[in-house]
Amino acid sequence: MKTIDSDFYKNSDDFFAANAGVGLTYDDVSLATCFSDVLPRMTSLATSISDKINLSIPIMSADMDTVTESSMAIAMALHGGIGMIHYNMSFADQITEVCKVKTYIHGMNRHPATITADLTIGDVIEIIDRNGYGFSSFPVIDKEGRLLGLVRGGVVKNRHADRKVADVMIPRDQVLTINEKELGNDPIATADRIFLDHIGTNKLLVVDDNNYLKGLFCLSDVEHIRDEITTDAIRPSRDESFRLRCGASVAVPRYPDGKVNYDALNEHVSNLVAAGVDAVIISTAHGHSAGVGECVRFVRQHFKELTIIAGNVTSAEGVEFLADAGADSVKIGQGPGSICSTRIVAGVGIPQLTALYVSAQAGKAKGVRIIADGGITKSGDIVKALTQADCVMLGGMLAGCKEAPGKIMEINGKLYKEYRGMGSMEAMRHGSAARYGHDLRNSKVTKVAPEGVEALKEVSGSVDQVLTTLAGGVQSGLGYLGAADLPALRKNARFIRVTSAGQRESAPHDIVEIKQK
Ligand code: XMP
Repeated sequence: MKTIDSDFYKNSDDFFAANAGVGLTYDDVSLATCFSDVLPRMTSLATSISDKINLSIPIMSADMDTVTESSMAIAMALHGGIGMIHYNMSFADQITEVCKVKTYIHGMNRHPATITADLTIGDVIEIIDRNGYGFSSFPVIDKEGRLLGLVRGGVVKNRHADRKVADVMIPRDQVLTINEKELGNDPIATADRIFLDHIGTNKLLVVDDNNYLKGLFCLSDVEHIRDEITTDAIRPSRDESFRLRCGASVAVPRYPDGKVNYDALNEHVSNLVAAGVDAVIISTAHGHSAGVGECVRFVRQHFKELTIIAGNVTSAEGVEFLADAGADSVKIGQGPGSICSTRIVAGVGIPQLTALYVSAQAGKAKGVRIIADGGITKSGDIVKALTQADCVMLGGMLAGCKEAPGKIMEINGKLYKEYRGMGSMEAMRHGSAARYGHDLRNSKVTKVAPEGVEALKEVSGSVDQVLTTLAGGVQSGLGYLGAADLPALRKNARFIRVTSAGQRESAPHDIVEIKQK
């Protein structure tokens, strides 16, 4: 129905049709309010990035070497999002990072760290230091893996350094154990019940009929998970075995002549899958290209159940190409990122909101999810992105968090962390050259044009603080649009273009700001 409003505020299709041929990004538009009976705190931000992976917030951390390793991926999953572990490290190290996420708080740790009875407490302290363990209780096993006892953290002290584990451990018959056959359908509930019956004990060891150690429950993990189950808090992203979810980035491995090395690809993905990875992300600067298509097709053919995210593209044809190859989600963005220089260096790329609209049309037709990757600097950008996309990927907004890799440095009294493009010269030297179609092993470095910069981000606290602020902002956006969830946001979104004066009006202005948050 034609109304006064409808002449001015256009729904997505009408708005982008009226702006065909114009490249628009987040700051070029604003969303019009709608009648609302929805309070922001009542809104749901739930989404999915494949038929198997649901998230309670639509945010993933970028597969960049200054953004996502296991600490970031753990924090993202605990807050209902997901982290994508980068590939600028050896395969073995990447697998270790995935394992750290998959063995973090979960129902049962199937591979608990163990010690043998012949060690001294000094040896145990050294093992803890070497591996960076944040705990000091260990099941004690014999050489075959049979349970002999348990060393409690209380005795792992320097003053006991010379004492033998065998002499200070709690012997097998006094350790709280359960046979794996007795765990039942709801192992967490079973473990919780046993802990309630044994107040003061915080480890429950799982054994088989032959006393082989099969796992370990920690009271704190069980309580944590029980709390999640019984409250309405944002649900952590977990797999069917209560393990946190995470993804990992996979390069397109090539022989020197440029052909895809399928053996290397198969080995890499097989190892990630064995480590429990939930999604692989085939992340390149140009996803609408032969090699990426071949890779996606190969992985889909050989790993039928695995979630595949592929990109990056900025056209409907690019989305169709990757969807036909077998991707579940397609990542959109060429050049919008805060550390990107692709548009300057190559003269290529589409302003992000237009790219998202065009791609989302193809995404809907093909039944694949759309991920808005790069260029997000505030929660309002996420609201605008989610009018087209199922999820956003953040680099710069998370790079200043304590969970991001890298050390904090102080410059003129302010704290910073390094943040660099995966197409920057330094990152490419560490492995990401393939993402940009270069091979630094065989090219003279001077012939390769970097497509990213090396930069610093001011330290921004923890992932918890950043995500809470962002999710709150997105919920406000939904409240203004009368949208109880993301599908309603998509339906209710009406856009208007903003002039440069309008942009100036949109941010705090004509004041002396004394506090930014
Ligand atoms: P934000 O804006 O969140 O962007 O910092 C993160 C995204 O930027 C992409 N990326 C790059 N793009 N050159 C580019 O053109 C680069 O060196 C580069 N490194 C990362 C990537 O998609 C990431 O998620």
